[in-house]
Amino acid sequence: MKKILTYGTFDLFHMGHLNILKRAKQLGDYLVVAVSTDEFNEIKNKTSYYPYEERKAIVESIKYVDEVIPEKSWNQKLNDIKKHNIDIVVMGDDWKNNEKFECLKPLCEVVYLSRTPVISSTKIKKDNLEGDFYGK
Ligand code: CTP
Repeated sequence: MKKILTYGTFDLFHMGHLNILKRAKQLGDYLVVAVSTDEFNEIKNKTSYYPYEERKAIVESIKYVDEVIPEKSWNQKLNDIKKHNIDIVVMGDDWKNNEKFECLKPLCEVVYLSRTPVISSTKIKKDNLEGDFYGK
């Protein structure tokens, strides 16, 4: 049983999120997703539109996802990997070479997947403010 772990806020769930979860699951058998709590987002200077419980419910309902855990701090990763017997940590390549994930390499494999072009939660918020529509 190969276990995969990924992290993220997953606000305003979009195709970039779906693609990374699908591709992460394809690397193994069991996908754990650590969803950032509202309190942790505050630490990251990020405000999500949907509260944690709703982002968690959406991510949990994705067929590629086996389990959702809360991401409450930067330094929980070592513990998450050990507790859940993780083989591979997967992130989008916006995190490539970032020490926050590179330092996990003695413990497990770290894989960066290419981001889906154009879309992001930030862009959705901006487009809504400006009256722009995705793909138009
Ligand atoms: N992701 C991706 N492709 C995108 C957007 C996100 O592969 N177009 C990946 C990120 O690299 C990360 C995961 O999805 O591994 C969760 O990212 P998150 O930060 O929640 O999504 P963003 O849309 O990038 O959010 P924001 O704009 O708030 O930074």
